[in-house]
Amino acid sequence: MNWNELGLKIAKEIEKDVMPYFGKKEGAKIVGYSPSGDTTELVDRISEDIVLKHLKPLNVNIVSEETGTIDNNSEWTVVIDPIDGSFNFTTGFPCFGFCFAVFKDNNPYYGLTYEFLTKNTYEAFAGKGAFLNGEKIKVKEYNEKEAVISYYSRKNLNLIGKVRRVRIMGAFGIEMAYVARGALDGIFDIRPYVRTTDIASSYIICKEAGAIITDENGDEFKFKFDLNATDRYNIIVANDEKLLNMILEEIK
Ligand code: IPD
Ligand code: CA
Repeated sequence: MNWNELGLKIAKEIEKDVMPYFGKKEGAKIVGYSPSGDTTELVDRISEDIVLKHLKPLNVNIVSEETGTIDNNSEWTVVIDPIDGSFNFTTGFPCFGFCFAVFKDNNPYYGLTYEFLTKNTYEAFAGKGAFLNGEKIKVKEYNEKEAVISYYSRKNLNLIGKVRRVRIMGAFGIEMAYVARGALDGIFDIRPYVRTTDIASSYIICKEAGAIITDENGDEFKFKFDLNATDRYNIIVANDEKLLNMILEEIK
């Protein structure tokens, strides 16, 4: 299976059908609820239907944000968030995209994160490096005075004085891809709120771009064995040990 061709094909089809709703109220019409209890909006449904149309005939396991898990007892599991940053999409804030991850026997195999507006394609096969539109990418070299981070926490943290800039954009999977390309130095969510579907594709890309990915204790981040659309994670992604240590110190 050419997972990269398939992922991009699905992304482009979703793009064609949902972009006419960008920033429009009709797209946000509630049409159901996801397994984790969030509302499913019209654009989520349209994009998820496209995903299922392509993946169901393959008889792979599917974990998707709105449908949940379809277990076909396959060695392959495809984890998708058809639109990461749905709220941004419907309110017209230009940070959202498509997240497509493939696991083989529950091990990360391929990740594709695609931004509809810029048409930026971030991708990585495990062990083969990370790429943005075909060009190799690496995390940025850390310099405390120049660091830019994003974070999500229920604690009243103030990291503004600790880094050069804080940028919180509301599409975690896309923001993780920004760490991989060096536009952000790090990102974390310790609510815990992000799901496998939000982080799986960019997890693979960030790893291949050299990021350190841990839980809230600084221990190596691991997906739960049972990949599903409901578990919530604490996750820290950093381009450097020094940044990771600063974050761990602040969230203690
Ligand atoms: C959401 C975004 C957001 C994050 C939430 C996610 P969705 O994804 O990634 O940044 O804070 O935890 O649920 O719902 O727009 O696909
Ligand atoms: Ca979504």
